[in-house]
Amino acid sequence: MSETEPVTNGTERPAETTAGETDERTREAWREYEFAGETKLAVEDLDVYYGDDHALKRVSMDIPEESVTALVGPSGCGKSTFLRCLNRMNDRIGTARIDGSVELDGQEVYQDGVDLVELRKQVGMVFQAPNPFPKSIRDNITYGPRQHGDIDTGLLARLTGRDDSEAADRLVERALRQAALWDEVEDRLDDNAMGLSGGQQQRLCLARCLAVDPEVILMDEPASALDPIATAKIEDLVEELAEEYTVVVVTHNMQQAARISDQTAVFLTGGELVEYDDTGKIFEDPESQRVEDYVSGKFG
Ligand SMILES: Nc1ncnc2c1ncn2[C@@H]1O[C@H](COP(=O)(O)OP(=O)(O)OP(=O)(O)O)[C@@H](O)[C@H]1O
Ligand SMILES: [Mg+2]
Repeated sequence: MSETEPVTNGTERPAETTAGETDERTREAWREYEFAGETKLAVEDLDVYYGDDHALKRVSMDIPEESVTALVGPSGCGKSTFLRCLNRMNDRIGTARIDGSVELDGQEVYQDGVDLVELRKQVGMVFQAPNPFPKSIRDNITYGPRQHGDIDTGLLARLTGRDDSEAADRLVERALRQAALWDEVEDRLDDNAMGLSGGQQQRLCLARCLAVDPEVILMDEPASALDPIATAKIEDLVEELAEEYTVVVVTHNMQQAARISDQTAVFLTGGELVEYDDTGKIFEDPESQRVEDYVSGKFG
């Protein structure tokens, strides 16, 4: 890193750089991405603090519906923090404080009285490490819909003749097909999910997320623990899902971001969104020198 004096960034605060330290000043115009479709998520002036650590700084960005938005940037720049703000997963972190606004379809996510269970149903999440429940493949898929009261196959339901077993079977097949896992598991639905390979477990987690009919799917490095073939499957899926869902995906893999996303947001310097635009523009002709250096692999 160069020995430059601390300089001010676009928000007139000293830039504490995590990578690519320069005297570059970011410009608001670099973050103003114009797109044709509808806005699914509108984030405005989002600040996140963990205790005294200012992890995200005044981030504003609109995320278009039915598309793939990639979030990239060096480790610690706040990508996971940003993602977790979108369905209020940060609420679970005691030290986290969030200022600013996130709107889903024009409705404020951070207002009092928001039903967090419903919110996380609409805005589902798939994590970096697959985390299936230690239950059967079938039970992993039906867990969410059961919790939401959408299907009931319990003893009481059977006794009162309101058994939803057939609906549950259809749901399991639909979700597993959507996640491109059905052909591999259709004859072992009652086996424990922990017996699946890592790549299969990750697709199962995606199927579990899809089973509750989300509108937005958040993915935090969903393929980083997978081999190239399993990664390619996840990438294909992400592109297909964008026909119906709004997908926001964190990745460290620049080729992957370039391949699968419609627009890319680059976070740098300790929680600052530096540039957000069409993926082609970000990778071929970015405005920021630091973004160019980062996406071309010069640092990070
Ligand atoms: N639960 C937490 N408690 C305290 N600080 C946290 C917590 N989670 C994240 N942070 C801090 O917030 C900053 C952003 O972290 P975050 O996990 O969002 O980065 P990231 O971009 O996802 O990094 P990586 O690429 O390594 O996953 C870091 O400085 C991190 O140490
Ligand atoms: Mg992260």
